[in-house]
Amino acid sequence: MSQQAEILHVEHVTHAFGGVKAVDDCSFSVPSGQITALIGPNGAGKSTMVNIVSGFYLSHQGSIRFNGEDISRWPPYRRGSGGLIRTFQISRGFGALTVAENMMAPAQHQAGEQLLNAIFRPGLVRQQERENYEKALALLNTFGLYEKRDDYARNLSGGQKRLLEMARALMASPKLLLLDEPMAGVNPALAERLAQHIVELGKTGVTFLLIEHNLGIVDQICDHVIVMASGRALATGTMKQVRANQDVVAAYLGG
Ligand SMILES: Nc1ncnc2c1ncn2[C@@H]1O[C@H](COP(=O)(O)OP(=O)(O)O)[C@@H](O)[C@H]1O
Ligand SMILES: [Mg+2]
Repeated sequence: MSQQAEILHVEHVTHAFGGVKAVDDCSFSVPSGQITALIGPNGAGKSTMVNIVSGFYLSHQGSIRFNGEDISRWPPYRRGSGGLIRTFQISRGFGALTVAENMMAPAQHQAGEQLLNAIFRPGLVRQQERENYEKALALLNTFGLYEKRDDYARNLSGGQKRLLEMARALMASPKLLLLDEPMAGVNPALAERLAQHIVELGKTGVTFLLIEHNLGIVDQICDHVIVMASGRALATGTMKQVRANQDVVAAYLGG
């Protein structure tokens, strides 16, 4: 077995909502430089896990290591600064901004830092803004949204919003990008396009942890699969390996 460095290591993580253990003593690793899928039936705890890994739920038990460092108690912005990034839906508020403004709007984790710099280092901020704008336009071009840059985000199609979500996450130069069902509700052609973007970004060294229901897409683009059921990681391996796992089959049929 080849010795693949792991970028993320989740160990004995538990998180409950009231009495319900959404994540229950869950442990898994995400190999560096690969596209890993997090799959499992509805209610398995996948979204909760992404919220724990990105730092939005700090009230969990167990540990999260990112690049070998224990980040279990780090707030989201600190994880983001280290390259652990998740996507966010284009929410109502962001719909009133243009596509380019959405790209430039500081991700939550950068807001405090940017405010301090704006006050104390205005020259630096202007320089960074120029560079960020160039980067934003280049990303919009890659994602086929350059022509839409001055349109209000609320006027984008559902699919274009998905593209913008991914493009916006890339502004933060992720090392590990967490995606919670990025292809849900988009047409097959666009799903294919999003999948290709993920593959291309993977080649540039971005590691992915991707929650995805479409197992055909998982089969096509993911190197490694983690199956969650009832709050636990039930199986890991290639898609072929987990498909052959009777526990996995039972979890899907039972769920
Ligand atoms: N904010 C919440 N409050 C209460 N219960 C929740 C909350 N989020 C998720 N749950 C419950 O936790 C379990 C796991 O949910 P979730 O992580 O969304 O699963 P998945 O993403 O795999 O479908 C489910 O039973 C769900 O109802
Ligand atoms: Mg979910």
